[in-house]
Amino acid sequence: MENLCFFIVVVTLLLLKCSTLCSARNLFNSSTDEDALLAFKATITSDPYGILANNWSTDTSICYWNGVSCGIKHRRVTSLNLSRFHLRGTVAPHIGNLTFLRSLDINSNNFTGILPDELSNLRRLKEINVGSNFFTGEIPSWFGTLPELQHIRLNNNTFTGKIPPALFNTTSKLQTLNLQYNQFTAYSMPYGIFKMSSIRDINLRGCSLSGTLPSDMCNNTPKLKTLDLSRNQLYGEIPPNIYKCRDLEDLRLSFNHFDGNIPSEIGTLVNLKLLALDDNSFGGGIPKQLGNLTSLNSIYLGVNNLTGELPQELSNLAYLEIFSVVNNALSGSIPSFMFNISTLKIINLQSNHFSGSLPSTIGMGFSFLNLEMLYLGDNRLMGPIPNYITNASKLTQLAMHQNSFSGSVPNFGNLRLLQELRIWENNLTGDLTFLSSLTTCQYLQVLQISTNPLNGALPTSIGNLSTSLKEFHAAECEIMGAIPPEIGNLISLQILALYSNQLTGTLQNHM
Ligand SMILES: *[C@@H]1O[C@H](CO)[C@@H](O)[C@H](O)[C@H]1NC(C)=O
Ligand SMILES: *[C@@H]1O[C@H](CO)[C@@H](O)[C@H](O)[C@H]1NC(C)=O
Ligand SMILES: *[C@@H]1O[C@H](CO)[C@@H](O)[C@H](O)[C@H]1NC(C)=O
Ligand SMILES: *[C@@H]1O[C@H](CO)[C@@H](O)[C@H](O)[C@H]1NC(C)=O
Ligand SMILES: *[C@@H]1O[C@H](CO)[C@@H](O)[C@H](O)[C@H]1NC(C)=O
Ligand SMILES: *[C@@H]1O[C@H](CO)[C@@H](O)[C@H](O)[C@H]1NC(C)=O
Ligand SMILES: *[C@@H]1O[C@H](CO)[C@@H](O)[C@H](O)[C@H]1NC(C)=O
Ligand SMILES: *[C@@H]1O[C@H](CO)[C@@H](O)[C@H](O)[C@H]1NC(C)=O
Ligand SMILES: *[C@@H]1O[C@H](CO)[C@@H](O)[C@H](O)[C@H]1NC(C)=O
Ligand SMILES: *[C@@H]1O[C@H](CO)[C@@H](O)[C@H](O)[C@H]1NC(C)=O
Ligand SMILES: *[C@@H]1O[C@H](CO)[C@@H](O)[C@H](O)[C@H]1NC(C)=O
Ligand SMILES: *[C@@H]1O[C@H](CO)[C@@H](O)[C@H](O)[C@H]1NC(C)=O
Repeated sequence: MENLCFFIVVVTLLLLKCSTLCSARNLFNSSTDEDALLAFKATITSDPYGILANNWSTDTSICYWNGVSCGIKHRRVTSLNLSRFHLRGTVAPHIGNLTFLRSLDINSNNFTGILPDELSNLRRLKEINVGSNFFTGEIPSWFGTLPELQHIRLNNNTFTGKIPPALFNTTSKLQTLNLQYNQFTAYSMPYGIFKMSSIRDINLRGCSLSGTLPSDMCNNTPKLKTLDLSRNQLYGEIPPNIYKCRDLEDLRLSFNHFDGNIPSEIGTLVNLKLLALDDNSFGGGIPKQLGNLTSLNSIYLGVNNLTGELPQELSNLAYLEIFSVVNNALSGSIPSFMFNISTLKIINLQSNHFSGSLPSTIGMGFSFLNLEMLYLGDNRLMGPIPNYITNASKLTQLAMHQNSFSGSVPNFGNLRLLQELRIWENNLTGDLTFLSSLTTCQYLQVLQISTNPLNGALPTSIGNLSTSLKEFHAAECEIMGAIPPEIGNLISLQILALYSNQLTGTLQNHM
C-alpha cells in the first residue's frame, strides 16, 4: 500500500514535470525564435552595413542568419553574436523567448535603453556581453537567479545606481564579472563579491567604489585570476590575506587611495604577471619578495611614496617588460641588473632620488635590445651618459633631463626610431656636433637640450633634422655664432627656444 502510494506520487510528479516541460515546448519552438529575432530586428533603428536588413530574411532558416547559431538537433537559437555590427536601437523584450540561448553577445554597438526583464527567462544563459553600448538603468538583480550564468560583461555603458547584492549569489557559477566604466553612484565596495567561490575575473575599474578591502578577501575566492579595482575611491591597506588568492595573475589597484606598505605576501603569488599599484599612497620599500615572482611581466608602482633602494632580488625577473616606479622617493644607485634584463621594453625611474653614475658596463642580458622607453629624468644621477645607450636601437623615448650628467653627448645616430630626446638641465659639455648624428632619426619630434654648458655653434646640419621635429629647445646652452638659415627646413617646428645664448644674426628670413 505504501509502495503504491509512493508510486502514485512519483508518477504524478513525473506527469506534472512533463506537463510544465511539454507546455513550454509547445509555447516556444523554432518559429517563436524566428518571431523573437524579427521583433528584435524591428527595434533596430540603424544598421548602416545592412548586416541584419539584407540578411535576416524569412526566406532562409534563422540558423543561417548573420550572428545566429542553432543547436544541431532542435534547431533552436543557442547563440546570438552581433558584436561590432554597428547597430543602433533597443533590445526587444522578445529576446527573452529564445529559451535555448546560451550566449548573447551584442558588445560594441550603439544599443540604448534598458536590459529588458524578459531576459531573466533565459535559464540556459551562460554568457552575456553587452559591453561598450549606451545601456541605462540599474543593473538588473535577476542576473543572480540565472543558474548557468558564467560570464557577465556590462562594461563601458551608462548603467546607474548600485551593483545589486543579488548578483553575488554564492551558489552561482559566475566566473567573470566585468562592470568597468559605468556611472554608478558612489557606494561601498560590495563584499559579497569575495564570497563567490567560482569567480575568476573581477573587473570593477571606474565603478565609484569607496571603502576598504575586507581583511578576509581571499578566503573564499581561491580561483581568482584577475582583480581590477583601479580608478575607484578605495583606501586602507592591502590585506596580507591576499596570498590566499594564489591563482592571481593580474592585480590592478591603481588610482585609488590605498596606503601602508606593499605587503610582502604579494611575493607568494607566483602566477602574477601584472602588478599595478600606481597612483596610491603606498609607503615603505619595494618588498624584495617580488623577486620571487618570475612570471612578472609588468610592474607599475609609480606615483606613491615608496622609499629605499631597488632590491637586488628583482634581477630574477627574467620576463619583465615594463618596470615603472616614476614619482616616488626611491634612492640609491641604479643597479646594473636593471640594464641587464633583455625583455624590458619600458623602464621608468623618473622623479625619484636615484643618485650616482649609471652602470659603466652592462651584462650579457642587455636590456637595451628591446628597450623602447627609458625615463631617468629628475633624479640625482651624475657621470657620463654611457655609450651603450646608443645601442638601444628600438628606443623611441629617452629622458635623462634634470640630473647632473656630465661629459659629452654621445652619437645617437643609431637610434633610428627616436621620437623624443630630453637631456635638458644637466652638466653636459663638448659641443653641438652630436646634433649632426641625430639627422638619421627621422621620427624625431622633441629635442630638449636646454640648460647645459654645451658651448659651440649650431651646425648647418640641423636643417637635416627630421621634418617631423615639433620642438627644439636649446636655451641656456652657451651657443655662439649665427643661426644657420637651414633651420627653415624644419617645417613642423612649433616651439624653438634659443634664449640665453650668445647667438648673433637674425631668424627672420629663415622661417
Ligand atoms: C510552434 O509553436 C506554435 C505555438 O506556439 C505553433 O502554432 C507552431 O505550429 C509551432 N511550430 C513548429 C514549427 O513547431
Ligand atoms: C546571410 O549571411 C550568411 C553568413 O554571412 C550567409 O551564409 C547567408 O547566405 C546570408 N543570407 C542571405 C539571405 O543573404
Ligand atoms: C562573437 O564574435 C566575435 C568575432 O566576431 C568573437 O571575437 C567573440 O568571441 C564572439 N563572442 C562569443 C561570446 O563567442
Ligand atoms: C555609434 O554612433 C556614433 C555616432 O553617433 C558613431 O560614430 C559610432 O561609430 C557608432 N558606434 C558603433 C560601434 O557603431
Ligand atoms: C514572446 O515575447 C513577447 C514579448 O516579451 C510576448 O509578447 C510573446 O507573447 C512571447 N511569446 C511568444 C510565443 O512569442
Ligand atoms: C541563487 O542561484 C540559484 C540558482 O543557481 C537560485 O536558485 C537562487 O534563487 C539564487 N538566489 C538568489 C538570492 O537570487
Ligand atoms: C572602456 O572605456 C575606457 C575609458 O573610457 C576605455 O579606455 C576603454 O578602452 C573602453 N573599453 C572598451 C572595451 O570599450
Ligand atoms: C607622502 O608622505 C608624506 C609624508 O609622509 C605626505 O605628506 C604626502 O602626502 C605623501 N604623498 C603621497 C603621494 O602619498
Ligand atoms: C622569496 O623571497 C625571499 C626574499 O627574497 C626569500 O627569502 C624566500 O626564500 C623566497 N621564497 C620562495 C618560495 O622562493
Ligand atoms: C646579466 O644577466 C645574466 C642572465 O641573463 C646573468 O648571467 C649575468 O650575471 C647578469 N650580469 C649582470 C652584470 O647583472
Ligand atoms: C653595441 O653592440 C655591439 C654589437 O651588439 C657590441 O659589439 C658593442 O660592444 C656595443 N656597444 C656598446 C657601447 O655597448
Ligand atoms: C659641472 O661639471 C664641472 C666640471 O666639468 C664641475 O666643475 C661642476 O661642479 C659641475 N656642475 C654641476 C652642477 O654638477
